[in-house]
Amino acid sequence: MKRNHSMKQYELPFFEALAGYRESGVVPFHTPGHKQGRGIHHALRDKLEGAAQLDVSDVVASQRFGDSWTRALRAAEELAAEAFGARRTYFVVNGTSGAIHTMLLAARTLGYEEVVLPRESHISVFAGLVLSGLRPRYVTGKRLSGWYLNAPPEPAAYEVASANKEVYLATRPSYYGIAQPLGALADRAHRRGGLLLVDEAHGAHFGFHPHLPRPALQCGADLVAQSTHKVLGAFTQSSMLHVGAARVPEHSVERALLCTASTSPSGLLLASLDAARAQVATDGPALWEKALELADTLRHHIVTHLGVRVLLPADLPPGYVLDRTRLVIRTADRGLHGVEAARLMRQFGAQVELADPWHVVALITWGDTWETANRLLEALRFSLEQAERSRKIPAPDVWNLPRPVVRLTPRAAALSPAEWVPLREAAGRVSAETICPYPPGIPVLCPGEEIDADTVAYLEGIRETAFEVRGASDPTLQKVLVVRE
Ligand SMILES: Cc1ncc(COP(=O)(O)O)c(C=O)c1O
Repeated sequence: MKRNHSMKQYELPFFEALAGYRESGVVPFHTPGHKQGRGIHHALRDKLEGAAQLDVSDVVASQRFGDSWTRALRAAEELAAEAFGARRTYFVVNGTSGAIHTMLLAARTLGYEEVVLPRESHISVFAGLVLSGLRPRYVTGKRLSGWYLNAPPEPAAYEVASANKEVYLATRPSYYGIAQPLGALADRAHRRGGLLLVDEAHGAHFGFHPHLPRPALQCGADLVAQSTHKVLGAFTQSSMLHVGAARVPEHSVERALLCTASTSPSGLLLASLDAARAQVATDGPALWEKALELADTLRHHIVTHLGVRVLLPADLPPGYVLDRTRLVIRTADRGLHGVEAARLMRQFGAQVELADPWHVVALITWGDTWETANRLLEALRFSLEQAERSRKIPAPDVWNLPRPVVRLTPRAAALSPAEWVPLREAAGRVSAETICPYPPGIPVLCPGEEIDADTVAYLEGIRETAFEVRGASDPTLQKVLVVRE
C-alpha cells in the first residue's frame, strides 16, 4: 500500500542536528553536566551510553542548521505538520498531559470561559481546568449495549443549553479504542463560534492506514493532543500538539506553551518525535497493515479457541469506529476479574496495557510479531485455566460513577485554602482535590464538586479493591481534602 508523502518525509532534521553536534567533536562547556555521557553513573553508562552522547541542551550546532536548535526543531515540526495534516505542529515533551493543559490555556487566551466535556475525561483534563479557569459543563458517555463499557458521548450529547460561546472537548478514541463520530461536533462548535479540542492521546496512528478511524484533524478539530509515544515509535513523554484551521492563532498556543513547557526540553525526546514522524509518514500504511493482521488473527483465535468475547466493530453504535489494533478481552465472561487476569498473564510473561473488573486491554502495534502475539494468546489461556482458583475481587462499576454537583470551578476549589475531613463525615463539603482510581483513570471526584452520600459510599467501596488511587492526598481514602469554609 502506498501513501502520498513528500520525499522530505524521509529527512530527520532534528535528529541530524543532535547527531551532527556530537560528531563535530566540539567540546561542550554547557549543560547538561554529564558532558555527553562522560560524567554519568556507570549503571546508566552500561545501558544508555549512546543516548547520553546525544543528550545535549539547546546548544546545537550542525553543518546544516548553523547554530540553531530552534531552526532544526522548526524544520522537524513542519514535517510533522505536513505528515499529520496540521496547519502547525508543536513537539511537546511533557506528554499529552502537557499538550492538554496547553490546549485549554490557549482556549482561555482566546476569550472562552466555558468548556463542554465528558465527565469521563482523563485526569489531565481536570488539571487543565484548574490551570485555565474554564468552567466545565459535563456530558456523559453511553453504556455500550451488551458490554460493561461506556462509549464516548455522541455529538448530540453536547447540546446542553447555554447562551455562551463554548469550547468542546472530546476524547477520541477512548482507552478501549472506540472512536465516536466527530464531524458533526466540529460543525456545531464552529457554527456557535466555538472550538473543538480533541484528546487524541491514543490515536496518533489514525490517518496512516485506511482501516483505522479518521484522525480528528480531518474531522475539523481545531486543536489536537496526541501521545506519539503511546502507539507510534517516540520515547515515553513525547507528544504532539496539532493546530487545525486558522481559528486558533499560533500566538495563543505559544502564550500557553510558555506556561506549560520546560525551557530545557529533552533533545532525546524531541529527536524521537522527529524519527517517529519520519517512520510513520514513510512506512505507516505497510507497518499498520501488519499490526492489523496480527490483531485480527488474535481476535479470531481468542473468540473461537478460547471462547472469550473480544470487542468487535459490530458491537459499536452506528457511526462509531473501532481501532482494531486494540484488543478488549472480556475475561469476566469466564469468571475471571480483569485485574486478576492481568496478574496471571504477567506471571506467564505478558503484560497488558489496562485491566478493569471485566476486561483486559492489549495493544498491538507494528512492534509485535507472530511470536509476541503467541505469547499473549498463551498467557491468556493460562490465566483462564487458573480462573477457578483465582482470588475474587469485588467489582465496583467503574463507569456508573456518582455524579456530584459542581459548586465551584475546578480552579477556584483547587486553589482555595483546604482542610482534611474524615471521608465518612465529608458529605455536603466541596472537594478541593481530584480522586481518580486507576483503571480507567476517570476521577470519581473533581475539585469544586459537592461530596454527596453516593460518592462517600463509592469511595468507601473501592478502598478494598485492587485499584490504585491517583490524585488523592490520602491514597487510603480515610480522609479527603475539602475547601475550608
Ligand atoms: C485518554 C488520555 N488522555 C491523556 C492522557 C495523558 O497522556 P500522557 O501520558 O502522554 O501525558 C492519557 C494517558 O494515559 C490518556 O489515556
